[in-house]
This record gives sequence, C-alpha cells and structure tokens, in this order.
Amino acid sequence: MDHILPTGFVEATEKVLLASGVASKRVIRWSHSPRMVALYEWFDWLLPGQFEAFAYRKAFCEGQARMAIAAGAGQVLVLGAGYDMMAWRLASEFPDVEFFEIDHPATAGLKAKGVAEIGQPDNLTLISEDLGERNLVEIMQSDTVWAQSTQTVVIAEGLLMYLPSAAVKELFRRCETVTGPNSRIAFTYIPTGVDGRPDAGRCTGFMLWSLKMRGEPWLWSIRPEELTSFLKELGWINAPDYPETNSKYGVERFGVAMK
Ligand SMILES: C[S@@+](CC[C@H](N)C(=O)[O-])C[C@H]1O[C@@H](n2cnc3c(N)ncnc32)[C@H](O)[C@@H]1O
Repeated sequence: MDHILPTGFVEATEKVLLASGVASKRVIRWSHSPRMVALYEWFDWLLPGQFEAFAYRKAFCEGQARMAIAAGAGQVLVLGAGYDMMAWRLASEFPDVEFFEIDHPATAGLKAKGVAEIGQPDNLTLISEDLGERNLVEIMQSDTVWAQSTQTVVIAEGLLMYLPSAAVKELFRRCETVTGPNSRIAFTYIPTGVDGRPDAGRCTGFMLWSLKMRGEPWLWSIRPEELTSFLKELGWINAPDYPETNSKYGVERFGVAMK
C-alpha cells in the first residue's frame, strides 16, 4: 500500500493521532503488527478490497486537490476531514493557497489540539461544526478568511454515505453557492445495488446492520449511471473523464463534480 499512499501520509497521521491523545505510541506500534494485519485482512473479506481502497481513496483526493491547485484553485475545503492530514501537509507546500477543514465537534476538538501541538500552518483553518446542525453557507460566510468568489476544490471523502439524501443534495447546492467559477468537488460514494440498498459487497446485509448498530448507518448511495443527472440538478457537471472515476475501489466509487 505504501506505493499508493501519498508521500508523508503515514508519518503525519501518526503524529497527529499521538499529539491529539487519540492513540498512544503502543497502539500505533500495534497497528503495524502481524495480528492487526490479520484483522485488516478479515475486514477485507467483509468489504472486499476495501483496505487497499482506502489508500486509493487518499491518492485520488490528494491528486484532485493538486490538480485543482495547478489549475488555479486558491482554496481547499475538506468536509468531514476526521484525522486526515492532507490539508496540513499541503498547507506548507502551497503557502499561497488557503486550506479549510470542517468536522463534527466530537472529532474536531481533539484534532485541533493535536494540530496545535505539531504546528498549525498560518494558511490552515480548522472549523468545528456539525454540518447537520449548521448550514455550510452560514459557516463559510461567517469565516473571515473564506473568499466566496475564489476557485476552490472541495473534498468530501468517506462522508456522503453517512448523510441523508436531502442533506447530500443540500451540501452540493451549498458548495455551489460558496465557491467561485471553475471550482470542483472531489467525492467518494457507495453505489446502489440491484436491490436498491447501498452495495457493500458479499456481506451487504450484515455490513449495513452492523454500521447501524454502531450508530453510523449508511444513508445515501447512488447508481453511477444516475450521477450525471443528479449533479446537473444541483448545479454541477459530472466530470467522468478521470481514470479513477470509472472504477470501483473496494465498495466505493470516486466522483468529480465541476462548476
Ligand atoms: C469515515 S470518516 C472520514 C474521515 C476522512 N474524510 C477520511 O476519509 O479519512 C467521516 C468523517 O465525517 C465527519 N462527519 C460525519 N458527520 C458529520 C457532520 N454532520 N458534520 C461534520 N462532520 C461530520 C466525522 O466526524 C468523521 O470525521
């Protein structure tokens, strides 16, 4: 997987997990152990190919952020960032670009503590908000650094499946409102299966049940062939020409919406 993951990904993630107190050195060491690898392999049996797919997902999102910056984007907004460190890593590489992250207060508080300890870049703004409670337009318009007319790349990685369908639509609409011309959204999603449920592979029933039991149900999925009309209705153009958007990675697919 090391050859797929962006450079510096593992080191930066371990650093923030340690600094935020989310994981100890022992837990991090343990995460590399043969026993844990066996557990990952079991996880892969449940969600075929998903373990490696996480690495492809990281590479896709970072690739889109870099491509957008090369094409003139002046802002990067990571929605539901979790402990992902892409914005932190790219902030020092691209000092003229403003980076923003939004995450639920439950995660954002700990991450902010970790980032403050390992060094907060001046061009990285961490926003602690529940996107289910507060509208993205309000959040971004109340931020003094955010520039609504600037070309932006929005990243929604591993997020949309957890939102109700109406909230996904609102999110795309609101991203359209708060970003400038030529902006894009890079996102990942779960395709809908033939039975109309999110398709989690061979153990779909068990997976959907266990996610619900853990309080993290998958609520939204879409058939890839419906993506173009879905995005068009929300003010975006489906950009299916990137090689990654034509494949399935584990149980997920990748998408890019352009203004
Ligand atoms: C599966 S994690 C993905 C994290 C990261 N994007 C990645 O792929 O590594 C989902 C993230 O979405 C965040 N999230 C879920 N619902 C949210 C909400 N209503 N408002 C803000 N963030 C939310 C969670 O806190 C969590 O960090």
